[in-house]
Amino acid sequence: MSESVGIHRIGIVYFSGTGGTEAAAHSFAEQAQAKGLAVELEELGRKAGATGRKTLSETPAGWDCLLLLFPVYATDAPAPVYEWIRSWSPVAGQRIAVFSVSGGGEVWPNTGCRAECCRQLEEKGLRVIYEAMLCMPCNWLMPTHDHVAMHLLAALPRKTELILGRILSGSIRRTAHRKGFLVRQLAKYEQSGSRGFARKLHVDEACNGCARCARDCPTGNIRMHNGRPEFADECLMCFKCVYNCPVRALQSNNIMVLKQGFSLSGLQRRMKDTPLLPVEECCKGVLWSGVKTYLTDRDRL
Ligand SMILES: Cc1cc2nc3c(=O)[nH]c(=O)nc-3n(C[C@H](O)[C@H](O)[C@H](O)COP(=O)(O)O)c2cc1C
Repeated sequence: MSESVGIHRIGIVYFSGTGGTEAAAHSFAEQAQAKGLAVELEELGRKAGATGRKTLSETPAGWDCLLLLFPVYATDAPAPVYEWIRSWSPVAGQRIAVFSVSGGGEVWPNTGCRAECCRQLEEKGLRVIYEAMLCMPCNWLMPTHDHVAMHLLAALPRKTELILGRILSGSIRRTAHRKGFLVRQLAKYEQSGSRGFARKLHVDEACNGCARCARDCPTGNIRMHNGRPEFADECLMCFKCVYNCPVRALQSNNIMVLKQGFSLSGLQRRMKDTPLLPVEECCKGVLWSGVKTYLTDRDRL
């Protein structure tokens, strides 16, 4: 399906915990700029107006098309995404493309949160013209094999260029997934479970009181007290504080947290100059089938 377009100005709204979705948002921005489009990026969860510029939300009519990107948190999208949808005052019929970003690809139940966001956006009067899953290295539970992770980073500009080209040529892409009863129940349980996650973090003696965790926290859930971070009950479980701590002072026994940490720049440093194994050799097993399909099918979105 396709429609005539006329897209010259793109607004990109994203939430990112550990940088995967941010990289995808920036990749879209670079592709759009290369095509001569005007582009504005807005990160959700940062204090509004901190940059002194008007946010995208304050200039809804300024954009011919919006791109919304967020990481998949099991069956749900991060809370700031829903807050943004609720607060957005769209111009009627405004076009939006929605991208979920996951470690496992377009497999159940990863698709549930995108379906829910699209439903809520449509309820607000936006027109969802395109939706897709992007894959980035997994930051929870099961780390992505380093070679696979590097393949994913290499695939990103190809995917964003392909998708943007399709949007600009008027392609419409909707997927049939629905959130469903089970996914909705799991999402409710997860949201309430994640809020108190940070309270169970242990701050060890390595903490030097630099307050980076407090500055970075997207919900302002961390405040410094006597030079140590203290946590409240608005945690998103995005792991930004845990993985970005420069001295790795925030410890957790939760099996969801990767013991070896997570850093895209660290990955790129340690894999620099390492010849990559072919995808078929390093991406094995049913749990990684969505990632394998994403990487081996160049047209797969
Ligand atoms: C709390 C949490 C839950 C997650 N759940 C899933 C999941 O169910 N399926 C999946 O494929 N990836 C899951 N992930 C992995 C992220 O979707 C993936 O690593 C994403 O690229 C992270 O984006 P970010 O770096 O922008 O935060 C989860 C990550 C977190 C932190």
